[in-house]
Amino acid sequence: MKAIQLEQPKQFRRIDIPDVPQPGAGEALVRIHRIGICGTDISGYLGKMPFFSYPRIPGHELGVEVLAVGPGVTNVKPGDRCSVEPYINCGQCYSCRRGFTNCCESNKTLGVMCDGGMCERMVLPARKLHSSSKLSFEQLALVETLAIGCHAVDRGEPKSSEHVLVIGAGPIGLSAIEFARISGAKTIVMDMNEQRLAFVREKMRVPDTILTSGDGEELKRLSELTNGQLADVVIDATGSNKSMGQALNYCAFKGCLVYVGITQADITFPHAPALHRRELDIRASRNALPGDFTRIIRLIENGEINTQPWITHHAAFDEMIDAFPSWTLPQTGVIKAMVVVS
Ligand SMILES: NC(=O)c1ccc[n+]([C@@H]2O[C@H](COP(=O)([O-])OP(=O)(O)OC[C@H]3O[C@@H](n4cnc5c(N)ncnc54)[C@H](O)[C@@H]3O)[C@@H](O)[C@H]2O)c1
Ligand SMILES: [Zn+2]
Ligand SMILES: [Zn+2]
Repeated sequence: MKAIQLEQPKQFRRIDIPDVPQPGAGEALVRIHRIGICGTDISGYLGKMPFFSYPRIPGHELGVEVLAVGPGVTNVKPGDRCSVEPYINCGQCYSCRRGFTNCCESNKTLGVMCDGGMCERMVLPARKLHSSSKLSFEQLALVETLAIGCHAVDRGEPKSSEHVLVIGAGPIGLSAIEFARISGAKTIVMDMNEQRLAFVREKMRVPDTILTSGDGEELKRLSELTNGQLADVVIDATGSNKSMGQALNYCAFKGCLVYVGITQADITFPHAPALHRRELDIRASRNALPGDFTRIIRLIENGEINTQPWITHHAAFDEMIDAFPSWTLPQTGVIKAMVVVS
């Protein structure tokens, strides 16, 4: 069957791989219909992703159809349309044993640390499939991106009376915005890119945005928008260590700062006054939990999340390699590109 492999940074190759075997106990054989492209794929392509190893078949945002199930599988059946939870956790480690499967000590995310879904069919643990009779394959492929934002907002635990500031309006920030809005908190979005903020105002219906150049003006604007209190929950989705160091200053007293963006660089900030005086919580956010996938599927089914603005670009499987370089350029307005497999 056909597959696409990232041989090394900036070099995709169309390959043929052996067809997959029938599913074993607890497994399902699936046909891949849609593959979402995200920042992780782009970083892997550009050679900037620390967890990425080559050669690799990418693809972790998948909308799939179940073709067959192995012995003992009861959660899905042939014909079901599913979203895939791509974090293949061990089930044995201290995190897994306590139910924190998102932080498995030896997690292997599909398409990043092991081969993913940029192919026609694959065998997956059936427990990683979340079905919906209503959603399209494209919507199902979007669920994983949304799950990252869902988990990040859960980490911040905003209350409906509070203010949430999301910094960075890329796909991960946008997914956090959906759940900040659903929490009932007043949501404010900051970015240094006006095109991204215009998208937030026009398509995500969040009117309060702050264009920052890091000159201190953004703090004044945030203060105005929050009755001088600043943000109870700040979610940094930039991946910029500079922004992540600065973000403490946007937190209200007793506030919480969530780092959902990832950096390998040092983050520096003084302990006092901001962190100490305001007694802030700083939390990381990694991947998402199985329950996030089922929750998101329900929210899309009920119309509480509108997926329509999200998907901005498409390519057929055989056109993906030519289209991909343009998806790395924010000026093309790409939020989510979808590869159509079948
Ligand atoms: N926690 C997780 O499990 C997880 C999962 C997937 C991705 N990520 C991470 O999330 C981050 C965001 O991913 P994305 O795909 O949305 O990236 P992106 O590059 O598309 O978006 C980042 C946004 O941040 C803005 N930005 C950058 N520096 C800024 C600054 N100093 N101040 C204000 N805005 C700034 C950019 O203009 C851009 O709009 C990445 O670091 C990615 O690795 C985390
Ligand atoms: Zn992703
Ligand atoms: Zn584990």
